Amino acid sequence: MNELVQLTKEKEIAIITINNPPVNALSPGVAQGISDAIASIENDKQVKAAVLIGAGRTFVAGADIKEFGKMTSGKAQRGAGLLPLLLSIEDCRVPVVVAIHGTAFGGGLELAMACHYRVASPTAQVGQPEVKLGIIPGAAGTQRLPRLAGVAKAVEMCAGGNPVGADVALELGIVDRLIHGDLLEGAVAFAREIEDKPIAKTRDRTAKLGTSAQNAPIFALARDTTRKKQRGLKAPLAAIDAVEAATTLPFDEGCKVEQKLFTECLFSDQSRSLIHVFFGEREVAKIPDIPKDTPLLPVQTAAVVGAGTMGGGIAMVFANAGVPVLLKDADQPALDRGLSTIQKNYANSVQRGRFSQSFVDERLKLIRPTLSYDDIAGVDMVVEAVFEGMALKKQVFSELDRVCQPRAILASNTSTLNVDEIASATGRPQSVIGTHFFSPANVMRLLEIVRGKQTGKDVIATCLQLAKKLGKVGVLVGNCRGFVGNRMFHPYRREAQFLVEEGASVEAVDNALYEFGMAMGPLATGDLAGLDVGWRIRKEYRHLEQPGIRQPIAEDRLCEMGRYGQKTSAGWYKYDANRRAVPDLEVANLIRAWAAEAGIAQHEPSGDEIVERCIYALVNEGARILEEGFALRAVDIDIIYINGYGFPAYRGGPMWYEDTIGLGKVYDRIREFNAQYGAHWKPAPLLRQLAEEGRTLADFGVERAAADYI
Ligand code: 3HC
Ligand code: NAI
Repeated sequence: MNELVQLTKEKEIAIITINNPPVNALSPGVAQGISDAIASIENDKQVKAAVLIGAGRTFVAGADIKEFGKMTSGKAQRGAGLLPLLLSIEDCRVPVVVAIHGTAFGGGLELAMACHYRVASPTAQVGQPEVKLGIIPGAAGTQRLPRLAGVAKAVEMCAGGNPVGADVALELGIVDRLIHGDLLEGAVAFAREIEDKPIAKTRDRTAKLGTSAQNAPIFALARDTTRKKQRGLKAPLAAIDAVEAATTLPFDEGCKVEQKLFTECLFSDQSRSLIHVFFGEREVAKIPDIPKDTPLLPVQTAAVVGAGTMGGGIAMVFANAGVPVLLKDADQPALDRGLSTIQKNYANSVQRGRFSQSFVDERLKLIRPTLSYDDIAGVDMVVEAVFEGMALKKQVFSELDRVCQPRAILASNTSTLNVDEIASATGRPQSVIGTHFFSPANVMRLLEIVRGKQTGKDVIATCLQLAKKLGKVGVLVGNCRGFVGNRMFHPYRREAQFLVEEGASVEAVDNALYEFGMAMGPLATGDLAGLDVGWRIRKEYRHLEQPGIRQPIAEDRLCEMGRYGQKTSAGWYKYDANRRAVPDLEVANLIRAWAAEAGIAQHEPSGDEIVERCIYALVNEGARILEEGFALRAVDIDIIYINGYGFPAYRGGPMWYEDTIGLGKVYDRIREFNAQYGAHWKPAPLLRQLAEEGRTLADFGVERAAADYI
C-alpha cells in the first residue's frame, strides 16, 4: 500500500501489517495505508476475512502525538481525523480481526474496537491514555468502549487513563480471545473460524450501555473521584461527559459530542503543557555529548550504604526492579531499624493493595543486610546514603574505592555536597556520580543524576538507563549547591516566608499555591520535610550570605522554639494526633511581632501576588541555572519540578509555564519586584537577554558540560 502499511494474503485471508517504528503511531501515512488496504480488500472477491496486525515491538500506541503539536501551533490543518477510516473498517464487507501485541493505546485501541474481532497476546495491554495528554479519545473511543466493556469500566479507563492487561480485557469483552504462541498464525486461524459468520459491528451493540438509573451513580461517583484525584485537570471530566453521551445518544450523535469535547481539550493550554511533558520526559534522556550507542555497564547487583530514611527506600527501589541489593550500615541496631522500616513500608503497600504479599516476599528476599564492606566488593553499583557530611562521605568513598571491583559505579545520594570533592576521596573519579533520589525514594519518580567533572560517559549513560529500569525519570544535572531542584526550591520557599512576614497568613500562602496546582503549599512542605533541616544548612552556610540581601527571619525563630514541623507536632502549623495541619494563632501573632520588630512594611498580598512571587522566584533561579549550564534545557527543569516537587503537570513545569505567560511579561514583573522588594529579585541575565531578543526559554539549549561547582 505504502512503506508504512503492507497488504499480503494467506489464501483467502488478507493481512494488513502496519510498519511505522518505533510504536506504529497512526501518522497520516499509516491511516492512508490502512484505508487503501481496506479499499483493495473490498475489491478483491477472493478475500473472505482480514487480519490487521502491527510489525515490530507493538501494535499501535495511538495517534501520532507530534501531529497534535503541529495542529495547535497552526503548522498543520486539522483533517477529518480517524473517524471516517474507522467507519470504513467497520463497514467492510469481510470480517476484520485485529491482532494485538505490546500496546493498543489511544487511537490504537479505537482502531482495534472498530474491527469486528480482537485477539491479543497474553502480555498485551489496551488503554485510552489520552487524558494524560490533556485530551480525550477522539476517534469514538468513548462511544465504542462502553459498548464493549460496560459503562463503569469505560468511564474508569477513559477518565483515569490507565491501561488494562490482556486477561482483564478478555474478561471485560474488549478482547475476544488470547493467543498463546505465534500471534499472526493464531489470528489467521481465528479469521478462518469466523469468516462465514455474520459481521457484528461494535457501534450497533447496546446491551452493555445500561439504563439512566443504573448509570447516574456511576457518573456521579466518577466525577467526584476525578475532582479529588485529578485535581485541576479538565480532560478527565470531559471524558466522563463523552462516555455519558454514549449512554444517552445514538452512536453518530455521541461521536459529535466526543469530537466537540476533543477539540476543546486539544486546543487548551493544559493539553499543550501535557504534550510538552510527554516529549520532555523522553528528551531528558538525550544528552548531546553522550551518544545513544555509548556502551552501558552492567547493573545486575547493587549495594546501598546507610540504611536510614533514604537508604532503605533506595534498597526497595532496586528490589522492586528485581535487582538484588545488599544493605549496609555502621552497626546492627541501625541495620535492624532500617530493615524493620522497609518491612513496615512493604506491609503498608500490601494493606493498600499496591503489592501482593507474594510480590513483597520475593522483594524482601532480594534485600540482604550486611555490616561488612567486604561483602559488597563484587556488586555492580553502590549508592551511598549515609548522614550528610563531607568528612563522612569521603571516608565511605575511600572504603568503597578500596573494596569495590574496578567497573563498579560509585554513587552518592547527597543532596547538597560537592560530588567532585566526594570523588576526590577515590582513585577513580570517573566512576563516581550523584544519584539524588527524592523522599520517599520508593515513591517519588524523580532521580537527579549529578554529573561530576570527571564522571565517565558510560557511567552517566548507565544511570540514565537504570533510572528507567527503576521506574524513575532520570534527569542529568550539573554539580552545583542544591543541584537543580533544591537550588530553585530555596528562593521559592524564601519568597513564601517573605510573604508571611509582610502580612499574608500562612494558610493564604499555602492555599494560593495549592490552588495554582502545587501538590502542597511551600510552608506545609517545610513542616513535612522538617524545618530543622534547612535551619542547619543555613547556619552552616551563613558565611556565604551576601550582605544587603534580605533573609527570612520567621523560620529560624520557629526552629529556635523547637517547632521543627510535623515531627514535633508544631511548625508553621500545629498538628493533631493524625498529623492534620491546624492553623496556629500563636504563630500568626509571633510573626506579626517579629515583623514589627524588624520594621517589615505590612500589606495583605493577593492570591495572584503570592503565586507570581513564588513561581517567578523559581523561574528566575531556573534561568540562572540554565545559563550557567547546570541544566541542559528548560524542559529538564520542568521535568524535575513535575516529578520531584509537585508542580502541576498540566502547567508544563515552571519554565514552560513562564513561556505560556510570556517571557517579556514575566521579566517586567520580576523587574517590578526587584524595585519593590529588593536585590534578591535581580533578574537573571538570561531573562533580560531573551526578553530583548523576543525569544523563549524553550528556545535556549546549552550544549556544554556544566560549569564548576558553585
Ligand atoms: N506518537 C508519537 N510518538 C510516540 C507516540 C505517539 N503516540 N508514542 C510514543 N512515541 C515515541 C516517543 O516519543 C519515543 O520517541 P523517541 O525515541 O524519539 O524519544 C518513542 O516513540 C518510543 O517511546 P517510549 O520511549 O515511550 O517507549 P516505551 O517502550 O517506553 O513506551 C509506550 C511505549 C507505552 C507506547 C509509550 O510510548 C506511550 O505511552 N506512548 C503514548 C501512548 C499514548 O498516549 N497514546 C495516545 C495518543 S493520543 C490518541 O491516540 C488520540 C486518539 O484518541 C485520536
Ligand atoms: P538518615 O539519618 O535517615 O540515615 C543515615 C544512615 O546512615 C543511618 O542509618 C546511619 O546509621 C547510617 N550511617 C552513618 N554512618 C555510616 C557509615 N559510616 N557506614 C554506614 N552507614 C552509616 O539520613 P537520610 O535522611 O536517609 O539521608 C541520607 C542521605 O540522603 C544524606 O546525604 C541526605 O542529604 C540525602 N538525602 C536525604 C533526603 C531526605 O529527605 N531525607 C532527600 C534526598 C537526599
